[in-house]
Parts: sequence; C-alpha cells; structure tokens
Amino acid sequence: DWTMAAYRDAKIAQIRAQVGSAKVICGLSGGVDSSVAAVLIHEAIGDQLTCVFVDTGLLRKDEATQVTQLFREHYNIPLIHVDASEEFLGALAGQSDPETKRKTIGRVFIEIFDREAGKIEGAEFLAQGTLYPDVIESVSSSSGKAHVIKSHHNVGGLPDYMKLKLVEPLRELFKDEVRALGRELGLTDAFVGRHPFPGPGLAIRIPGEITRDAVETLQQADAIYLDEIRKAGLYDSIWQAFAVLLPVKTVGVMGDARTYEKVLALRAVTSTDGMTADFFEFPWDVLGKCATRIVNEVRGVNRVVYDVTSKPPGTIEWE
Ligand code: XMP
Repeated sequence: DWTMAAYRDAKIAQIRAQVGSAKVICGLSGGVDSSVAAVLIHEAIGDQLTCVFVDTGLLRKDEATQVTQLFREHYNIPLIHVDASEEFLGALAGQSDPETKRKTIGRVFIEIFDREAGKIEGAEFLAQGTLYPDVIESVSSSSGKAHVIKSHHNVGGLPDYMKLKLVEPLRELFKDEVRALGRELGLTDAFVGRHPFPGPGLAIRIPGEITRDAVETLQQADAIYLDEIRKAGLYDSIWQAFAVLLPVKTVGVMGDARTYEKVLALRAVTSTDGMTADFFEFPWDVLGKCATRIVNEVRGVNRVVYDVTSKPPGTIEWE
C-alpha cells in the first residue's frame, strides 16, 4: 500500500544512504517546495543540514519573517538568513526588460548563494526542492520564460566552480504530492497550501523599473487582496492570485481633490499545473471589496482593474 507516511520513511532512508555523515546546504526560497525539502532532509540528517535563505526583498508581505520563524523557532533548523534586498534592487536599477530582470535576479542570487555557501565548511551536498514538472520543463522547453529562472534557481543551477552533489528528494513529485508530504511532516495546511510563487518574485509583477517604493506598495495591495480572498473562503479554489502594479497613472477623486496615481491589476486563475489556466470567476462583491480597500488603504493606487485573460493566449504572470 502506497501512503505518504511510507513515502516519507523511504525518502528519509534514501537521503541518509546518499549523504552519510556529510554536510548538506539547502537553498530556501521562502516557497513551499524548498521548505518541504528542507524539513524532510532535516528529519533525515538533523544538524548536518544548514539552510541558506537568500531574501531578495521581492517576496510577498511578511513572508520572509514567516519562513525564518518557522525554521528557527518551530523546527530548530540551522538557517542563514541573508537580507539581500539592497543588492537586488541595486542590480535591478534602470532595468525594465522582463528577461533582463530575470537574468539579473538569477545572477545575483547565484553570487550571494555561493558566497554564503562557501562559508559552510566541508559541505558536500546541495539540496533543492526540484519537482517533477521542473525536471520535465528543463528538458523539454527551449524558450519558456519559467525555464529561464528555473535553470538558475531549481535545476542544474550549480556554477562550475561549486562542485556540490545534488540532493533532490522531491524530484518524482507533483505539487499536490509535495503539499501532502509537507502535511505529513507537520507543516500546516495554511503553509503548504500557499499559491505558487515565481523565483523572480514581485520583480515580474511590477512592469518597468523597480523601486523599493513600488515593491512596498505592491506588497501592501497584494496582502489586502489575499486577505479578502481568504475571508471569502476562495483561497483554495484558486491556483494563483496576485496583484500587478502598473506603470500607468490615471485620474481619480478623493474628497474634493483630484488624484493622479497608479493602476493596480488583480489576477486570479484556476489551473492544475500552470501550463494552461482560466481566469477565476469572482463574485463581484469580493472584487468590489478588494478595490475599495486597496484604494483607501494603499497610498499611490487610485484604480483597480481585473484581468480576464485565460492562458493561452495570455500568460499567468504579466512579464
Ligand atoms: P506563465 O506566466 O508563464 O507562468 O503563464 C506559469 C507559471 O510559472 C510561474 N513562473 C515562474 N516561476 N520563475 C519561476 O520560478 C519564473 O521566471 C517564472 N515565470 C513564471 C508562474 O508564477 C506560474 O505559476
């Protein structure tokens, strides 16, 4: 009989056999996959594991704190948290082309990860939360935009001069199986049920140039959107929901005054694998509530629109 508990035990035995008494470094992104991989490996080899969390500053609001607290306080897993937002924002300054942004983030990520990993003496293995669809995609896709960063972040992302062997305990699994494994390992439903989040993070949800202000504005608006979705009980019916801060200003009124501020686009899709997707059919009152709250609570946004494009021909992300 195949159960997740049996799968977990088999994987733990396999990791122990592969790694022996060697040290392992795990790159944490803040997302579900790398977190589940880290918790699993920690259960297998304990403090032979050190996690390195390169915080790009481009995560959703409060997410970096949640991840570091979970690892340090709840699981007691050794974790190096690198707050690298300055470095990422600096490298991204003046860049507005989507592919250039992705490449810059991939490059800076590797640089920082390498630097930190180099400080962990005697490490022989690098653990990654690579899933089965990542493996397939990196083999089959030649120009898919997800592939570009995944080649940096997830699959085969080792610079030549880092001769670490890979530990990839999730390589056979799909997203829903990773979530089940995460629950088996004691992670909460709320944690493992989080929507997928792209490696380049909010950088590809701010078309055009990225500034710290824009990132903060987007984080606030995105948090309100997700909060309303959760309150309406819709979060688990949606594959991904997020906000996009547009580099377009429109006119509005606030009291007696005319405003001239940015437009925020809301996106929500249903999907099983992200390859195709339908726009999510919100009840209008939920969308209306989101718009009202965002315009009232977030400085710098005075108009909210909803994206009703499915994939194909649209993509899920805007960049
Ligand atoms: P698109 O926008 O191509 O997105 O329809 C499909 C899925 O892939 C995610 N995505 C990315 N993930 N790095 C990632 O790790 C990327 O550069 C990237 N681009 C898109 C997207 O969030 C969706 O789940």
